[in-house]
Amino acid sequence: MVILKSPEEIEKLKASNGIVADILSELREMIRPGITTIELDRYSEELALRKGAKPAFKGYMGYPFSLCVSVNNEVVHGMPSDRALKEGDIVSLDFGVCYNEYYGDSAITVPVGDSSDIAKRLIGTTRKALYSGIEEARAGNRLGDISAAIQEQVEAAGFSVVRDFVGHGIGKSLHEDPQIPNFGVRGRGIKLKSGMVLAVEPMVNEGTYKIKVLNDGWTAVTFDGKLSAHFEHSLAITENGPVILSEVA
Ligand code: MF3
Ligand code: CO
Repeated sequence: MVILKSPEEIEKLKASNGIVADILSELREMIRPGITTIELDRYSEELALRKGAKPAFKGYMGYPFSLCVSVNNEVVHGMPSDRALKEGDIVSLDFGVCYNEYYGDSAITVPVGDSSDIAKRLIGTTRKALYSGIEEARAGNRLGDISAAIQEQVEAAGFSVVRDFVGHGIGKSLHEDPQIPNFGVRGRGIKLKSGMVLAVEPMVNEGTYKIKVLNDGWTAVTFDGKLSAHFEHSLAITENGPVILSEVA
């Protein structure tokens, strides 16, 4: 069941997602060779608590950290550790909070120092695919319009869309209906309505779309060891079209 949000609830979701956006932009500033992924996790938690928000991922299904940090061939749910980032790595930071009973959720992928041309193209394609999907998030369209727009962008660039993880509705829970695949067919799926709030999150692989989950039970990696990128925004569907909630004001 998809829960529609009132304008007042959308304001609250904007506050939660604004906190996430601010924290991601602060974390992005810290990315440099030598920093460890656990330092980023600790800092994300400290920033959230300082703003009166609760890190949303910590304890969720037993996940032990506040931040997901996925490096190079890691697709999503990378676990923070004493691993130091290296020049040329690409790193995805996925962060969520609960503030005033409403959740915020967003992710970015950034290069560490200078990265390869293919890494830059993968990151650029994934971000562009997210924005093409968001563009379709309009009342009267169908869910498949979002999914197809993302898939078309990604495959036109010669990359592949991860099948095993999806975007989601967001509100008083981190994950609500509907599930939002990053591949699909235009005109299919549920009809989109004003008041829906969606977290759209394409995960894009350089090579095969296949992934596997490591023995830690969380870290998803590409099956072929090639690179992967991930971007996520939470957005509201309004009478004036899509409004991105997780952007720095
Ligand atoms: N942004 C991810 C999601 O929407 C993060 C969840 S990871 C978990 O599913 F640790 F919270 F499970
Ligand atoms: Co999400």
